[in-house]
Amino acid sequence: MRIITTESYDELSMAAASIVAGQIYLKPASVLGLTTGSTPEGMYGKLVAVHKAIGLDFSKVTTFNLDAYLGLGADDPQSYHHFMQKHFFDYVNVKPENIHIPDGLAKDVTGECRAYDAAIRAAGGIDLQLLGIGRNAHIGFNEPDVKFEAATHKVRLDDETIQANARFFEDETAVPRYAISMGIKTIMLARRVVLLASGWEKADAVKRAVLGSVSPATPASILQLHQDATIIADSAAASLLPEKFQHGEHEI
Ligand code: PGA
Repeated sequence: MRIITTESYDELSMAAASIVAGQIYLKPASVLGLTTGSTPEGMYGKLVAVHKAIGLDFSKVTTFNLDAYLGLGADDPQSYHHFMQKHFFDYVNVKPENIHIPDGLAKDVTGECRAYDAAIRAAGGIDLQLLGIGRNAHIGFNEPDVKFEAATHKVRLDDETIQANARFFEDETAVPRYAISMGIKTIMLARRVVLLASGWEKADAVKRAVLGSVSPATPASILQLHQDATIIADSAAASLLPEKFQHGEHEI
């Protein structure tokens, strides 16, 4: 596992965008696993800027989002479809037919999950999976005590996640209780994984993910076993790591 600690959120966003841009330059038909939340907003902004400034070309890229709330349709302003349009897809040239986000209104949720994993396989697997991390160390909506062997599946959100995400909704009661999420197995099958962590409230989760024991109680800890995982943390998110990890780039 590699850890890159940046001085600021802006630098974190630039570091993440550089990795994504490099991936696309090296393999224009890359399959990207995308994530939502406050943390990746800066990265998407930088990628849009690179697209506009020097024509970074997404026309051959295929994308699969990590998760989606159950009960929210693509047009719902709180849906992750809407997030992705607003922060990224509206401004770059990813072809609509190459965009995949789980259907939050699927009648047959199990079928939707199976079809999602099959579509990832049919696309050749994910080259680069982007992740955020929850305060409880979730990745995607894989909450503590997740089954590591699960592929894409229906999940119940933790109370802590519902509270954290309430800021995007009118109030806590409006936050959906269920979601479809890529499972840990789906994430671990990606050839390369980059996790972004920003802010003090993520510091404990980062510490447990990087230095704690690998355990379903800390879903992100599984990345210690991934062949090519990078954590990009700003100085606040890295603040509980040993001093030597608080600046620059390190292999752990
Ligand atoms: P955040 O969410 O970037 O909005 O903090 C990250 C996550 O829960 O995975």
